[in-house]
Order: sequence, then structure tokens, then C-alpha cells
Amino acid sequence: MTTLLKADDRMILALDEPDLDRARALVKTLGDSVSFYKIGLTLLAQGGLTLAEELKAEGKKIFQDWKLHDIGAQVEGAAKAACSGACDLLTVHAEPQVMRAAVRGRTNDTTKIIGVTVMTSLTQYDLDEMGYGMELTDLVMRRVDQAVECGLDGIVSSPHEAAMIRARVPADFLIVTPGVRPEGAALDDQQRVATPQEALLHGASHVVVGRPVSRAADPVAAAQGILAALHNV
Ligand code: C5P
Repeated sequence: MTTLLKADDRMILALDEPDLDRARALVKTLGDSVSFYKIGLTLLAQGGLTLAEELKAEGKKIFQDWKLHDIGAQVEGAAKAACSGACDLLTVHAEPQVMRAAVRGRTNDTTKIIGVTVMTSLTQYDLDEMGYGMELTDLVMRRVDQAVECGLDGIVSSPHEAAMIRARVPADFLIVTPGVRPEGAALDDQQRVATPQEALLHGASHVVVGRPVSRAADPVAAAQGILAALHNV
């Protein structure tokens, strides 16, 4: 029997299953190959916090991907509540008012709060339509600077922006990159992808990976392939 590589906290598995039963089944299949799970809105809206507590009790780390965006009092309250539960990483939209409120609500050092700068589903056309009147990349970099100023712990970005961001943020600032694909894997609906090793070499602190593992014929083998690649970075 081949020895399995130990999980690596730098690899976050996106638990994008449609319901809790299927999410629990995937976690069971992956066993010790994954130590960090991202739980998004679909599961959070149907008891995902219970799953988060269960996984935390098993020693896993939890990324609660709420992408908070509301008036200050609500964001502050939600961040405070997240900090008292199973939450190692929490997302908010990277607008100064929202980020300042989230930082006010942070009650411990173990919950890291990271900002979504400009969602990768948005194009320049969408920004123009919303009336932003500025280049998309300029808005991303402006929000990165504001995230640092507001005291956030990091941001979410495309691996393609990671190097540019790493060059202007503190060394311990988290850069969490989805949109990673192992060499030869299907792109699905992702456009601007990089391999997990490329993302880390460009300055990412964590990679978020979903379908290349969850939809693989052998999810453990797929996770192990990524772990092997990360070992060399
Ligand atoms: O399956 P895949 O690896 O494409 O999943 C990537 C995960 O990262 C999904 O949970 C997706 O919602 C999330 N994500 C993303 N792009 C962003 C932010 C988050 O793909 N800009």
C-alpha cells in the first residue's frame, strides 16, 4: 500500500456540494488528505455552520465564505458571531466601510478576515455598467491597499494578480487564490487559471480548489497529486 501524503493547510478544498449529506460524504472520502475546507453560501444556507462545527471538532480548519456586505452594524455583528464559532477564515467585500466594521467585530487572532477585491465574475463592462469609471485592475489594487490600511488579514485574488499584490503588501498578508487547476485538468468555467505551484510561487499563501478534486473519479488521488506538487514549493 502506498503511503499517503499528509494534508497541507495551504490547500483549501471548496466544499461546493449541493447539500450537507453529499458534503459529509466527500469529507469522509478525502479523510486525512484535506485539512482545510471552504464552506460557501449554498451550504451555509442549509445548516453549513453545523457542518463547520463537526469538521472543527475533527481538527479541520474552516473557511466560512460569507462575502459579507451590509451596513456596518450588521457586518460587525456577523464577524463577531463568526469569530465565536468554527471559523479560521472569513470573507467580506473589500469596501472600506465593510472592512472597518469587520475588523471592529473581530474578537480573536485565530479568525483571519480577508477581503474580496473585485469578484472575478465581473468584467470591465460590468464595472462601467455599475458606474465605477475606473480600470478593473486599478480598482483591485486600490482595494488591496485599503484592505491593508483597514487592518484586514488578507485578500482573495486571481493567481494572475498574486505577484503584483505580493509586491505591495506585508509578508504575512494572506493571498488566497481560487482559479487553480493542476496541469491538464479541465478548466470548467474558470478562465484565468494557474497551477497550484504557480499560484504559490507567485506569492499566494493558500490555493482554493474545488472540482479538480471533488469531481475527480478518484478524489483522494487528485488531492494527493496537488499535495505532491505543493511539497516542492
Ligand atoms: O471548482 P473550482 O476549483 O473552480 O472552485 C473554486 C472555488 O473558489 C469555488 O468555491 C468558487 O466559488 C470560488 N471562487 C472562485 N473565484 C473567485 C472567488 C471564489 O472561483 N474569484
